[in-house]
Amino acid sequence: MTLTCYYLDDSSADPRLPHDSGRPVDYSHVLALGVEHWNVPVPSDGKYVIVDHIMEQRGYHYHDFVTLNKETLGEALESVLDGFYEEHMHEFEEARYILSGHGYWDIREHPTETWIRFKVGPGDLVILPPGMFHRFTLDEKSDLSSMRMFLETPSRHALPRGKVADENPYRVDYLKTIAVL
Ligand code: LAC
Ligand code: NI
Repeated sequence: MTLTCYYLDDSSADPRLPHDSGRPVDYSHVLALGVEHWNVPVPSDGKYVIVDHIMEQRGYHYHDFVTLNKETLGEALESVLDGFYEEHMHEFEEARYILSGHGYWDIREHPTETWIRFKVGPGDLVILPPGMFHRFTLDEKSDLSSMRMFLETPSRHALPRGKVADENPYRVDYLKTIAVL
């Protein structure tokens, strides 16, 4: 299974709307930008054997579970989502396995700087490379549970878009990995 990918429109309406510009993007292009994606049906017994195996192979040793909805976060939901929707990058992979609900990742296409959006739902395992500028939001239902995976310890340390991030060695390395595009 692939992801449905498209260029974002330029409307400033609620980010949780689809914002589909009508210009599709090939899934293979998103992979070429460094996104890794698997679809692993969510097991009903809570034993994530396949996902655990993929992550073990990559040297991951920690995971936790995060639920984003009004019931769990109350009034804090909106500020959490505002934070996720600030353009940023990490010095590590962002690895998430969606268990329920739907959300959108927006990733910056290089070198056009255009936003590409893809929607994720149950069973999507997504890894964004270090140094890729991105942001995240939910769909209109505002209800998503996911497993977050980390090599050792959980971190949401994010570098906002700007000079410091642009000169960060992980950003510089990321641009080298996609220089062939
Ligand atoms: C994160 C996602 C939301 O950094 O980009 O957790
Ligand atoms: Ni992130």
